[in-house]
Amino acid sequence: MKGIIFNVAEATVSDEFGEDAWDDLLESAGLDGAYTALGDYPVDHLVALVTAASDKLSLPPADVIRFIGRRGFPILIDKYPDMAVGHSSARTFVLSLNEVIHPEVRKLYPGADVPTFEYRDSGKGVLEIEYVSNRQLCYFAEGLILGCADYFDESIDISQPTCQHDGAISCVLRLQWIAND
Ligand code: HEM
Repeated sequence: MKGIIFNVAEATVSDEFGEDAWDDLLESAGLDGAYTALGDYPVDHLVALVTAASDKLSLPPADVIRFIGRRGFPILIDKYPDMAVGHSSARTFVLSLNEVIHPEVRKLYPGADVPTFEYRDSGKGVLEIEYVSNRQLCYFAEGLILGCADYFDESIDISQPTCQHDGAISCVLRLQWIAND
Protein backbone atom coordinates (compact mmCIF):
# COMPACT_ATOMS: atom_id res chain seq x y z
CA MET A 1 0.00 0.00 0.00
CA LYS A 2 1.36 3.40 -0.97
CA GLY A 3 2.76 5.54 1.82
CA ILE A 4 0.51 8.46 0.87
CA ILE A 5 -2.41 6.53 2.36
CA PHE A 6 -0.49 6.23 5.67
CA ASN A 7 0.36 9.95 5.46
CA VAL A 8 -3.34 10.69 5.03
CA ALA A 9 -4.23 8.41 7.96
CA GLU A 10 -1.66 10.23 10.13
CA ALA A 11 -3.11 13.62 9.17
CA THR A 12 -6.68 12.56 9.97
CA VAL A 13 -5.72 11.09 13.35
CA SER A 14 -3.48 14.07 14.31
CA ASP A 15 -6.12 16.62 13.27
CA GLU A 16 -8.80 14.95 15.36
CA PHE A 17 -6.89 13.61 18.37
CA GLY A 18 -3.54 15.46 18.42
CA GLU A 19 -0.11 14.48 17.19
CA ASP A 20 0.67 12.21 20.14
CA ALA A 21 -2.30 10.04 19.21
CA TRP A 22 -0.60 8.87 15.99
CA ASP A 23 2.59 8.01 17.89
CA ASP A 24 0.51 6.06 20.42
CA LEU A 25 -1.09 4.07 17.61
CA LEU A 26 2.28 3.32 16.02
CA GLU A 27 3.61 2.12 19.36
CA SER A 28 0.56 -0.08 20.02
CA ALA A 29 0.80 -1.53 16.52
CA GLY A 30 4.57 -2.08 16.87
CA LEU A 31 5.41 0.07 13.82
CA ASP A 32 8.10 2.70 13.32
CA GLY A 33 5.93 4.98 11.17
CA ALA A 34 8.49 5.95 8.54
CA TYR A 35 6.13 6.20 5.58
CA THR A 36 7.19 8.10 2.48
CA ALA A 37 4.39 8.98 0.04
CA LEU A 38 5.79 6.96 -2.87
CA GLY A 39 6.96 3.98 -0.84
CA ASP A 40 5.17 0.63 -0.68
CA TYR A 41 4.22 -0.89 2.65
CA PRO A 42 2.22 -3.97 3.66
CA VAL A 43 -1.53 -3.39 3.90
CA ASP A 44 -1.20 -5.29 7.20
CA HIS A 45 0.37 -2.12 8.67
CA LEU A 46 -2.84 -0.25 7.94
CA VAL A 47 -4.91 -3.07 9.42
CA ALA A 48 -2.69 -3.04 12.57
CA LEU A 49 -3.09 0.74 12.97
CA VAL A 50 -6.85 0.52 12.48
CA THR A 51 -7.06 -2.32 15.01
CA ALA A 52 -5.03 -0.30 17.54
CA ALA A 53 -7.32 2.74 17.03
CA SER A 54 -10.39 0.55 17.28
CA ASP A 55 -9.18 -0.84 20.65
CA LYS A 56 -8.30 2.60 22.01
CA LEU A 57 -11.53 4.25 20.93
CA SER A 58 -13.81 1.24 21.48
CA LEU A 59 -15.10 1.67 17.96
CA PRO A 60 -15.57 -1.03 15.30
CA PRO A 61 -12.62 -1.17 12.85
CA ALA A 62 -15.06 -0.35 10.03
CA ASP A 63 -15.88 3.01 11.67
CA VAL A 64 -12.18 3.83 12.07
CA ILE A 65 -11.28 3.14 8.44
CA ARG A 66 -14.43 4.93 7.24
CA PHE A 67 -13.38 7.96 9.32
CA ILE A 68 -9.89 7.95 7.76
CA GLY A 69 -11.42 7.82 4.27
CA ARG A 70 -13.97 10.54 4.95
CA ARG A 71 -11.48 12.98 6.50
CA GLY A 72 -8.82 11.88 4.04
CA PHE A 73 -10.71 12.79 0.88
CA PRO A 74 -10.30 16.60 1.25
CA ILE A 75 -6.63 16.08 2.11
CA LEU A 76 -6.09 14.21 -1.18
CA ILE A 77 -8.02 16.83 -3.14
CA ASP A 78 -6.05 19.67 -1.50
CA LYS A 79 -2.91 17.92 -2.70
CA TYR A 80 -4.28 17.32 -6.23
CA PRO A 81 -6.93 20.04 -6.85
CA ASP A 82 -6.96 19.34 -10.60
CA MET A 83 -8.69 16.06 -9.89
CA ALA A 84 -11.86 17.89 -8.87
CA VAL A 85 -11.87 20.23 -11.86
CA GLY A 86 -14.89 19.69 -14.11
CA HIS A 87 -16.92 18.00 -11.39
CA SER A 88 -19.85 19.62 -9.65
CA SER A 89 -21.21 16.52 -7.94
CA ALA A 90 -20.02 13.45 -6.08
CA ARG A 91 -21.81 11.31 -8.67
CA THR A 92 -19.67 12.37 -11.62
CA PHE A 93 -16.53 12.21 -9.49
CA VAL A 94 -17.26 8.67 -8.31
CA LEU A 95 -18.17 7.60 -11.86
CA SER A 96 -14.78 8.85 -13.07
CA LEU A 97 -12.66 6.75 -10.68
CA ASN A 98 -11.84 3.92 -13.12
CA GLU A 99 -11.24 6.07 -16.18
CA VAL A 100 -9.66 9.23 -14.80
CA ILE A 101 -8.87 9.49 -11.09
CA HIS A 102 -7.15 6.22 -10.36
CA PRO A 103 -5.28 6.10 -13.71
CA GLU A 104 -3.96 9.56 -12.79
CA VAL A 105 -2.98 8.16 -9.38
CA ARG A 106 -1.05 5.38 -11.12
CA LYS A 107 0.94 8.00 -13.03
CA LEU A 108 1.72 9.94 -9.85
CA TYR A 109 2.44 6.80 -7.81
CA PRO A 110 4.04 4.22 -10.09
CA GLY A 111 3.05 0.71 -9.10
CA ALA A 112 -0.08 1.87 -7.23
CA ASP A 113 -2.49 -1.02 -6.85
CA VAL A 114 -5.86 0.70 -7.11
CA PRO A 115 -9.28 -0.98 -6.96
CA THR A 116 -11.79 -1.05 -9.80
CA PHE A 117 -15.48 -0.34 -9.58
CA GLU A 118 -18.45 -1.63 -11.60
CA TYR A 119 -21.36 0.77 -11.73
CA ARG A 120 -25.10 0.12 -11.94
CA ASP A 121 -27.62 2.94 -12.02
CA SER A 122 -30.51 1.48 -10.04
CA GLY A 123 -32.91 4.38 -10.61
CA LYS A 124 -34.54 6.66 -8.03
CA GLY A 125 -31.20 8.37 -7.36
CA VAL A 126 -29.51 5.12 -6.36
CA LEU A 127 -26.09 4.15 -7.69
CA GLU A 128 -24.75 0.69 -6.98
CA ILE A 129 -21.00 0.16 -7.13
CA GLU A 130 -19.32 -3.20 -7.01
CA TYR A 131 -15.93 -2.84 -5.37
CA VAL A 132 -13.34 -5.12 -6.97
CA SER A 133 -10.07 -5.53 -5.07
CA ASN A 134 -8.22 -8.19 -3.11
CA ARG A 135 -7.56 -5.75 -0.28
CA GLN A 136 -10.97 -5.85 1.43
CA LEU A 137 -10.95 -2.10 2.00
CA CYS A 138 -14.61 -1.52 1.14
CA TYR A 139 -15.11 0.59 4.29
CA PHE A 140 -12.25 2.83 3.20
CA ALA A 141 -14.08 3.23 -0.13
CA GLU A 142 -17.25 4.11 1.81
CA GLY A 143 -15.35 6.77 3.76
CA LEU A 144 -13.81 8.32 0.65
CA ILE A 145 -17.23 8.47 -1.01
CA LEU A 146 -18.72 10.14 2.09
CA GLY A 147 -15.82 12.62 2.07
CA CYS A 148 -16.48 13.24 -1.60
CA ALA A 149 -20.16 13.93 -0.81
CA ASP A 150 -19.11 16.37 1.96
CA TYR A 151 -16.81 18.10 -0.51
CA PHE A 152 -19.69 18.71 -2.95
CA ASP A 153 -22.07 19.57 -0.10
CA GLU A 154 -24.21 16.50 -0.72
CA SER A 155 -25.49 13.78 1.58
CA ILE A 156 -25.24 10.13 0.64
CA ASP A 157 -26.50 7.16 2.60
CA ILE A 158 -24.28 4.12 1.93
CA SER A 159 -25.21 0.52 2.61
CA GLN A 160 -23.63 -2.74 1.49
CA PRO A 161 -26.22 -5.34 0.43
CA THR A 162 -23.30 -7.76 0.07
CA CYS A 163 -19.84 -7.49 1.65
CA GLN A 164 -16.75 -9.68 1.60
CA HIS A 165 -16.40 -9.14 5.34
CA ASP A 166 -19.68 -11.08 5.72
CA GLY A 167 -18.48 -13.88 3.47
CA ALA A 168 -19.93 -12.61 0.18
CA ILE A 169 -17.93 -12.97 -3.04
CA SER A 170 -17.88 -9.21 -3.57
CA CYS A 171 -18.89 -5.94 -1.97
CA VAL A 172 -21.69 -3.87 -3.43
CA LEU A 173 -21.89 -0.29 -2.21
CA ARG A 174 -25.38 1.13 -2.56
CA LEU A 175 -25.35 4.92 -2.72
CA GLN A 176 -28.61 6.74 -2.04
CA TRP A 177 -28.48 10.50 -2.38
CA ILE A 178 -30.46 12.34 0.28
CA ALA A 179 -31.97 15.73 -0.49
CA ASN A 180 -30.34 18.48 1.59
CA ASP A 181 -32.88 20.62 3.52
C1 HEM B 1 -14.53 8.68 -3.96
C2 HEM B 1 -13.27 8.64 -4.29
C3 HEM B 1 -12.34 7.47 -4.12
C4 HEM B 1 -12.59 6.17 -3.81
C5 HEM B 1 -13.93 5.50 -3.52
C6 HEM B 1 -11.29 5.48 -3.75
C7 HEM B 1 -11.11 4.18 -3.36
C8 HEM B 1 -9.89 3.61 -3.06
C9 HEM B 1 -9.70 2.39 -2.30
C10 HEM B 1 -10.82 1.56 -1.70
C11 HEM B 1 -8.36 2.17 -2.23
C12 HEM B 1 -7.64 1.05 -1.46
C13 HEM B 1 -7.01 0.00 -2.36
C14 HEM B 1 -7.95 -1.12 -2.67
O1 HEM B 1 -9.04 -1.21 -2.10
O2 HEM B 1 -7.60 -1.97 -3.54
C15 HEM B 1 -7.72 3.24 -2.93
C16 HEM B 1 -6.36 3.35 -3.08
C17 HEM B 1 -5.74 4.50 -3.47
N1 HEM B 1 -6.33 5.64 -3.93
FE1 HEM B 1 -8.30 5.94 -4.23
N2 HEM B 1 -10.30 6.37 -4.09
C18 HEM B 1 -10.89 7.60 -4.30
C19 HEM B 1 -10.25 8.78 -4.62
C20 HEM B 1 -8.90 8.93 -4.67
C21 HEM B 1 -8.24 10.21 -4.92
C22 HEM B 1 -8.91 11.56 -5.12
C23 HEM B 1 -6.92 9.96 -4.89
C24 HEM B 1 -5.88 11.04 -5.10
C25 HEM B 1 -4.64 10.99 -4.92
C26 HEM B 1 -6.73 8.53 -4.63
C27 HEM B 1 -5.52 7.89 -4.51
C28 HEM B 1 -5.35 6.57 -4.12
C29 HEM B 1 -4.04 5.98 -3.80
C30 HEM B 1 -2.68 6.66 -3.85
C31 HEM B 1 -4.29 4.67 -3.40
C32 HEM B 1 -3.25 3.63 -2.91
C33 HEM B 1 -2.87 2.64 -3.98
C34 HEM B 1 -1.83 1.65 -3.44
O3 HEM B 1 -1.68 1.55 -2.22
O4 HEM B 1 -1.13 0.97 -4.20
N3 HEM B 1 -7.97 7.94 -4.53
N4 HEM B 1 -8.66 4.11 -3.43
